[in-house]
Amino acid sequence: MAFSDIQEQLRAIREEAEAQLQKVGDKPALDALKLKLLGKKGDLTALLRSMGQLLPEERPQAGQMINAVREELTGKLEEFDAKLRKLEQERKLEREAIDVTETRKRTPMGCIHPISLVQEELMRVFTSMGFDVVEGPEVELDLYNFELLNVPKNHPARDAQDTFYIEDSILLRSQTSPVQARTMLTKKPPIRIICPGRVYRADEVDATHSPVFHQMEGLVIDEDVTMADLKGTLDAFAKALYGEDVTTRFRPSFFPFTEPSAEVDLTCVNCHGKGCRVCKGTGWIEVLGAGMVNPKVLEMCGIDSKRYRGFAFGLGMERIAMLRYGITDMRLLYENDVRFLSQFRDD
Ligand code: PHE
Repeated sequence: MAFSDIQEQLRAIREEAEAQLQKVGDKPALDALKLKLLGKKGDLTALLRSMGQLLPEERPQAGQMINAVREELTGKLEEFDAKLRKLEQERKLEREAIDVTETRKRTPMGCIHPISLVQEELMRVFTSMGFDVVEGPEVELDLYNFELLNVPKNHPARDAQDTFYIEDSILLRSQTSPVQARTMLTKKPPIRIICPGRVYRADEVDATHSPVFHQMEGLVIDEDVTMADLKGTLDAFAKALYGEDVTTRFRPSFFPFTEPSAEVDLTCVNCHGKGCRVCKGTGWIEVLGAGMVNPKVLEMCGIDSKRYRGFAFGLGMERIAMLRYGITDMRLLYENDVRFLSQFRDD
């Protein structure tokens, strides 16, 4: 082996290294090439070993040349390694990229039932006037639903409310008024409460009747409470719910637990008093029952009727909801048809 052979082989190794490097696409291929060129059994090591065949004075220079090529190739391989790593990193970022601007399908949301919407609104209006919200049981004693409200057994007023009885003295409450009696028996005046809730009557289902419906009762007891306070409170309620031009009209009526009693009409919310189909041309719609709490009821519930007076009112929440949203058939409120209910979404 001559010095020129070493030179020739080094040139070949470099050329081969260049060519191979072009083909390397990943780390294992690069490692294999590194082993082939620079490893213990690699080309350059073999060349170093063959230096023994050179003349002694030729060896230092040959050794330097071989080492220079080793360094050059080592540098190139490292450079390529860095390039590969960068490429791999870029690919990884691309694979894992998240498009934060991408929109996804909306999760379908439920809607609030119109009765609940009305109840929430009524509670907001009345609590802002200083009323507390009180609830009572739906399975009720005859005592609270009738007796303490001045409707004794065999009283003709019981016929007006076709009641579901569970036993002789236990029934499904036919009105929210029993909550009045319960509150008067347990709380001292001043009392200012509203009682929303479900009530039951043995009615046939039609466009304006259902055996289960919702009422909201109101009760105020204090010294010097007058009919004018009742009128003022209901006027404020009507305006808050339906607008400034809506007022109330009282017509004489009868309830055993109030004296005097009134049916309360509101200015028709559909035609604002002009007369239309909804109010049957009268300009008024009947919405509430109300009156001054009968002193007999106050006494039965343990309240001194000489010192205290009170007013009460009751309304049907279905009626309020139907007027509010222009619903003409009450059955729609109970059928749970999503096409109907989804209209009460506030988004
Ligand atoms: N409870 C009565 C009804 O259901 C309504 C009412 C409540 C009337 C309070 C007067 C006072 O018909």
